[in-house]
Amino acid sequence: MSQICIVGTGYVGLVAGSCFADLGNDVVCLDIDKSKIDGLNAGEIPIFEPGLEDLVRRNRHAGRLVFTSSYQRAIPPADFVFIAVDTASGPGGEASLSSVEAAAKRIAANLDGRTIIVDKSTVPVGTGDLVSSIIRQHRGDDVDFHIVSNPEFLSEGSAVADFLQPDRIVLGSENPSAARDVASLYRSFTSPIIITDLRTAEMIKYASNAFLATRVSFINEIASMCERLGADVTEVSRGMGLDKRIGEGYLSAGVGWGGSCFRKDVLALEHMAAVNGCHPQLLRAVMEINRDMRRSVIRKLREQLGGLRGFRVAVLGVSFKPNTDDVRDAPAIEIIRLLLGEGADVVAYDPVALPNAANEVKGLKTATDPYGAVEGADAVFIATEWNEFNEIDWERAGAAMRRKFILDGRNLYNHEELESCGFEYIGVGQGRNPSPISEFAAVNAAS
Ligand code: UDX
Repeated sequence: MSQICIVGTGYVGLVAGSCFADLGNDVVCLDIDKSKIDGLNAGEIPIFEPGLEDLVRRNRHAGRLVFTSSYQRAIPPADFVFIAVDTASGPGGEASLSSVEAAAKRIAANLDGRTIIVDKSTVPVGTGDLVSSIIRQHRGDDVDFHIVSNPEFLSEGSAVADFLQPDRIVLGSENPSAARDVASLYRSFTSPIIITDLRTAEMIKYASNAFLATRVSFINEIASMCERLGADVTEVSRGMGLDKRIGEGYLSAGVGWGGSCFRKDVLALEHMAAVNGCHPQLLRAVMEINRDMRRSVIRKLREQLGGLRGFRVAVLGVSFKPNTDDVRDAPAIEIIRLLLGEGADVVAYDPVALPNAANEVKGLKTATDPYGAVEGADAVFIATEWNEFNEIDWERAGAAMRRKFILDGRNLYNHEELESCGFEYIGVGQGRNPSPISEFAAVNAAS
């Protein structure tokens, strides 16, 4: 079993650290945020992630998982030092490397004996070389180290399972034996392992996230066409996804993608492309379509209600997707801001993410359950497909509303069921009121 240090106890670091400990390794999780470390040492988990609390508790009690703010204590005994610090977007969309650089300097100062430094954060292509040069600058030839890129592909809400049963493990290094050493940490996994060079591994991560975002933007563009042309995007996705060459994932139309990764990574890749003389036209369109999806919610509400000022809108779901309390780049947050900006009265409900939403939108009105949120509302907007929203009694909810109108941004409901309770219902990409055929005939005749 190995001695592992994980630098950075955010999503990736905390999940990776506790999973490596659960596999039997001795893990030290390190973070410069002392209050976070104090909380973890007191058994407080800073994020909502199914299964994580148990994993942390079990491995702390077994003595395999410790939390510290001390580089001096954590780095020297480690065989493997994982860098899992944040890489926020800079003003031009570029990934800001200040946390990675700071971590590299402090790791350099404390290295002792042969150490493999593994980058798990999503970092621009070339960062592994940068970390290597920072360590050389600080320690010269005094240290024995190798750099490996091992990007993490975990999704929030299923992070523990994604770590323990990954579709693939990507390892990039200029030193094949260091890559094999990191591979040995995953020896009990059955997942395929790809060993490649550093820069290729770094690119695999960006390309994967950008491709997933592209698929969602693609289906959302098709959804907008379905609305005009009288087709149903849910069936279109199903029909496409059964083609093995296409596959089913990331083809659910909705109000657009969000979260801490897609926007940051698409922007960073776009930036990398642009500064290296490439023309990232597709990536720009992926971003633009996503922006449009959010604006289209406002347009649909305005059209249906005949304005927004003074109307009350209940927003159900504020996290960027279900099973997380994360509201970073959540479509709901931007849409709430736009609605408030247009003079609408907004009341939000979410099973876990309201405290985070209230930090983002000062003075946000919230309710403790969906029925409280819809009281007196002129419209309900479904922003996140939480499972519990399937249990809402819409007869009861409708009776408390001023106008029974649902804009279902996640195609969670069957329109017939809602309409049978007296609701006006609009989903995404459900072309139930197509443009008259004569318009198309006219266009075709003219072309
Ligand atoms: C993503 C990647 O999946 C993960 O591999 C990477 O490490 C981090 O970024 P995450 O941000 O947790 O993970 O979210 P994900 O589940 O991929 O969803 C991203 C967004 O796309 C969400 O807002 C989700 O609602 C949206 N989405 C996803 C759709 O709108 N339609 C879909 O079909 C799939």
